[in-house]
Amino acid sequence: MRVIQWATGGVGRAAIEGILLHPDLELVGCWVHSDSKNGVDVGEILGTEPIGVLASSSKEEVLALEADAVVYAPLIPDREEVAAILRSGKNVVTPVGWFYPGEKDGAPLAAACAEAGVTLHGTGINPGGITELHPLMFSALSSAVTFVRGEEFSDIRTYNAPDVVRHIMMFGGKPEEAMGGPMLGLLSGGFIQSVRMCVDALGFAADPEVRTSQEVAVATRPIETPIGIIEPGHVAGQRFIWEAFVGETCVVKIAVNWLMGEEHLDPAWEFGPQGERFEVEVQGDPSCFVTIKGWQPDTVEEGLERNPGVTATAFHCVNSIPYVVAADPGIKTYLDLPLIAGRAHPDLR
Ligand SMILES: NC(=O)c1ccc[n+]([C@@H]2O[C@H](COP(=O)([O-])OP(=O)(O)OC[C@H]3O[C@@H](n4cnc5c(N)ncnc54)[C@H](OP(=O)(O)O)[C@@H]3O)[C@@H](O)[C@H]2O)c1
Repeated sequence: MRVIQWATGGVGRAAIEGILLHPDLELVGCWVHSDSKNGVDVGEILGTEPIGVLASSSKEEVLALEADAVVYAPLIPDREEVAAILRSGKNVVTPVGWFYPGEKDGAPLAAACAEAGVTLHGTGINPGGITELHPLMFSALSSAVTFVRGEEFSDIRTYNAPDVVRHIMMFGGKPEEAMGGPMLGLLSGGFIQSVRMCVDALGFAADPEVRTSQEVAVATRPIETPIGIIEPGHVAGQRFIWEAFVGETCVVKIAVNWLMGEEHLDPAWEFGPQGERFEVEVQGDPSCFVTIKGWQPDTVEEGLERNPGVTATAFHCVNSIPYVVAADPGIKTYLDLPLIAGRAHPDLR
């Protein structure tokens, strides 16, 4: 299958690695936002040998290529752009949205899919993994489910997007700036889709309104971080929560806990003895509790170099391509697609 990579940030570069190693996929094109990458061999962008595929910042040029699928991973999702890719006859997999879209968000893209006979699939890790796919997978081993949860506990110092961390997430800013900032709204776009997928698939009679909340922890001393010193009283930890309720009973909970390390925080948030991790919980008969390790780097330096959470996101996209290409046209979620698997290491095939 011929694949185009759209944007070469952390996710995009890892996706290219995954495409090159996947037995059924071939990289045939690459769109870049940065002028400095225009015309550059994709291997050079990855820091490896040239691979004979040149990146282009011309959307028209890239859309004119013949390809089966696009891994769409730019910083900011653009619905018109995704519609244009779909209308050019290419299936799209993406970690930026459309995990389980509502009518308003989904209808224009569903129309583009129908017109061109292609499929759109939103996937990733969080959303797109631990916040709906994994709770639902584990719920299949329980009867009479009363509650599911997906939660991230990460050291945000390992996320190599300093502008996003400082100016969008508002780390290092004043608490009132973070609380009034765009982050809850931006995150909610994806995480509310995850909550709704869990509610619908499990059949909870939940209130339509998903309750959201945001809390901050501030530095008690200057904290040295990759985005600079965080001064006392400024934001050094954030927790976001999305919950669905049946009456006063919480039935689905998604939460992210992002800390600038575990020292000098007020409240004194910490990861506890288990350290950074992702958790999935299902309450039912029987209940289960899953801790996932390995999607967070061992050190801040490693994370800034190559963050496993970012690579896992990219590989979830890449591994879904054969299934998405084979699917009927339309927007397809985990509830529509068959089990998606990775592929063996080239030395072991
Ligand atoms: N669902 C999940 O679990 C999950 C996990 C991680 C990330 N994500 C999402 O995936 C996307 C990519 O993440 P990332 O970590 O790869 O981000 P990133 O490292 O910041 O890279 C984003 C890339 O987008 C391009 N870009 C920059 N400014 C742009 C603009 N104004 N308009 C369009 N493109 C622009 C650049 O591509 P070039 O360098 O090629 O010019 C940049 O490298 C983000 O939207 C992020 O929220 C989702």
